[in-house]
Amino acid sequence: MTYSLTRRQSLKMMAAGIAGLMMPGVPLLAAKNTGVEYRRLGRTDLKVSLVGFGGLSIGLAGTEQQRVSRLLNQALDRGLNFIDTAECYGHPDKNHSETLIGNAVGSRREDYVLCSKVGHENGHFGQGADWSADSITRTIDRSLKRLKTDHLDIVYLHGCPVEVLQAGDATEALIKARKAGKIRFPGYSGSGERVKAALDSDAFDVVQLTLNVFEQNAIDDLLPLAAKKDIGVVAKRPLGNAVWRFPERPEWEWYAEYWDLIKPLEYPFFQGGLLADPGPDGAAGMALRFVTSTPGVHSAIVGTTSPGRWTQNNANVSVGSLSEAQYQAIRESWRALPGNQRALG
Ligand SMILES: NC(=O)c1ccc[n+]([C@@H]2O[C@H](COP(=O)([O-])OP(=O)(O)OC[C@H]3O[C@@H](n4cnc5c(N)ncnc54)[C@H](OP(=O)(O)O)[C@@H]3O)[C@@H](O)[C@H]2O)c1
Repeated sequence: MTYSLTRRQSLKMMAAGIAGLMMPGVPLLAAKNTGVEYRRLGRTDLKVSLVGFGGLSIGLAGTEQQRVSRLLNQALDRGLNFIDTAECYGHPDKNHSETLIGNAVGSRREDYVLCSKVGHENGHFGQGADWSADSITRTIDRSLKRLKTDHLDIVYLHGCPVEVLQAGDATEALIKARKAGKIRFPGYSGSGERVKAALDSDAFDVVQLTLNVFEQNAIDDLLPLAAKKDIGVVAKRPLGNAVWRFPERPEWEWYAEYWDLIKPLEYPFFQGGLLADPGPDGAAGMALRFVTSTPGVHSAIVGTTSPGRWTQNNANVSVGSLSEAQYQAIRESWRALPGNQRALG
């Protein structure tokens, strides 16, 4: 049997060879782009874009398919290669985050590193936890279908308590899925003491933890240990949900506890015109650059429902890290707040 390649296929194969030589582990389209930084995700050896995509907002809002398809395809074409979602981001039957992502980009699976989570097979947004091995296995199988793929690169235990980690069944279910070729790396996603226990257990190759200008505990409490063990670190809620956009205190406590910190923190980029400035020195730019300037962070997964956002956020990060003085000023303002040592997440 002979095969003849189209010009497009030949070019794709040539580019794949070049990309493979240049940057092993970076998907083809991503490697062709410039102005995008990729970081090695700890001992996984995956290379992920410094600005990733967080799939919570699209599920929360039930964003329409066409919009998500535009948003994700455009971002992948420009260098995004890291997509995060979860088992419980959205209504199971209508515009669930996993389904939206699978429909949007399942046909170009080789272009991105894909992560999902387990622990809430039948619950929405972190409610109704079930940490049994059977439920975890069923949830992974469902994610594969929704995401139109035969493997997930990372599957996180989605915030289980320390006792569940210690019991071991949930972790064992991930190991079993790995042996079956359904997942490549087990991970843990959560905050504070729970992430610390996950790091201590050494059972996970990647952790997803909360880090932003409002919540900085992870810098002292978790990042040094992750670095010592060469565990991948993904920053969630990196913009602090961009709560400065709300003129009134939001009703949702999740947002409100950050909103309450805007005034006391007195960050210069939360003042006047800089609040709405879309560039690197405005509120969104500075908040994201704070996270990406933090040593030991490999990717910041920004949630968005807006086509063009990834490009904007990537451009902001591309100008480089904050200066030491800028970075330390943000640390100092945060440390000066009463109660700043408590974990919010
Ligand atoms: N326990 C867990 O495992 C857990 C918990 C929370 C989050 N996560 C993960 O982390 C991801 C990120 O967290 P998140 O989505 O809660 O919060 P986030 O990324 O801090 O903020 C998302 C919000 O920021 C807005 N935004 C993005 N870029 C902006 C910009 N340049 N200027 C102004 N606003 C901007 C988005 O609005 P637009 O739609 O207008 O862009 C969206 O409403 C989630 O999507 C999810 O994947 C995991």
